[in-house]
Amino acid sequence: MKIAVYPGSFDPVTCGHLDIIKRSCKLFDKVIVAVLNNSSKSPLFSFDERVELIKKCITDIPNCEVQSFGGLLVDFVKKSGANTIIKGLRAISDFEYEFQMAMLNKKLAPDIETVFMVTNLNCLYISSSVVKEICHFGGNAEGLIPSEIIKDIKDKIEKEC
Ligand code: PNS
Repeated sequence: MKIAVYPGSFDPVTCGHLDIIKRSCKLFDKVIVAVLNNSSKSPLFSFDERVELIKKCITDIPNCEVQSFGGLLVDFVKKSGANTIIKGLRAISDFEYEFQMAMLNKKLAPDIETVFMVTNLNCLYISSSVVKEICHFGGNAEGLIPSEIIKDIKDKIEKEC
């Protein structure tokens, strides 16, 4: 069974993330979306909220599940019985950082492969940060955030910001 892990902060999950999830689920028998639980980035959405938001978006994808992880990604990948890390690339600027991460992960765990998936054209400009800003200022987030969770995200941002 080919199992892949798609890791991230997902603060919150966007249409860009969901695009990568859906496409990677066609390539692998199982994809585990791994939500980082010890981020030093002070996420807006709590860990539980980030997991719940992703779960709402993947109800129709049977070979996808959401889990949390802390510590090193490669340790989580090994524990999950996976041997592949999936990363989405939007631009050359993403590549520089992701390339370093891929090399470090390869050094730590030579048997684990990183697979880069190029984001669809219609998601190239989407990031969790811009989505939060657009919602904060009352902009239209359709096509940026999965429709199932737009209301949850807007409600949270109105309450918190
Ligand atoms: O969505 P993000 O914030 O870009 O995701 C980053 C993530 C979670 C993939 C990355 O921070 C990570 O892998 N963290 C776990 C710690 C680790 O293994 N670091 C890489 C080796 S130094």
